Amino acid sequence: MTQDELKQAVARAAIEYVVDGEIVGVGTGSTANFFIDELGKIKHRIKGAVASSEVTAERLRGHGITVFDLNEVDSMPVYIDGADEITPQGAMIKGGGAALTREKIVASVAQKFICIADGSKLVDVLGKFPLPVEVIPMAQSVVARKLASLGCEARLRLKDGKPLVTDNGCYIIDVIGLAITDPVALEASINNIVGVVTVGLFARQGANVCLLGTADGVKKLEF
Ligand code: A5P
Repeated sequence: MTQDELKQAVARAAIEYVVDGEIVGVGTGSTANFFIDELGKIKHRIKGAVASSEVTAERLRGHGITVFDLNEVDSMPVYIDGADEITPQGAMIKGGGAALTREKIVASVAQKFICIADGSKLVDVLGKFPLPVEVIPMAQSVVARKLASLGCEARLRLKDGKPLVTDNGCYIIDVIGLAITDPVALEASINNIVGVVTVGLFARQGANVCLLGTADGVKKLEF
């Protein structure tokens, strides 16, 4: 099976977690896109969705799914999204698509985080994938220096030779070369750096379920 077929398989499996008549939180990225396509097929069963990025909102609307502003929603049963890395304990690195802050905000309103990922995303120790940190633009240099003092490389993410600008008007610094053995502690300490909007570590509130696409089928991990 190709990686895309594995992503499609977990996207299909995630439909089982969608609650009829409710609002579903929807993530960002290639796996989330496959999920949105599946959600489009059962759109008559749901009230609508909350999107974790502008690109996801556009894709949802393209399927005729009503997109709610998070401020109109007090709670939702599930948030469904991909990950860049996930541990056997359910801690994740997210933000390869630069949507980490809105992803974390929408996930915080959901009762359960359902992670959908192909098997390559499962790792024992987080950090091989660069850890994204969203920063206020005027703080990019000071934050980069503080991150580098952790003993890693802190690199401003670029797009077409210019700093990539997130949906929130901020920048992303990718942290390269960290072996993250205590993700809960690192999440707290990076979030405490002045100028940081959000770190792409989802550990204090990680996944509740991971649907992992493997050659032997979709495996379910519960945390
Ligand atoms: C988006 O900002 C990310 O958090 C994605 O959820 C993550 O990068 C996974 O993306 P893919 O499903 O494209 O691998």
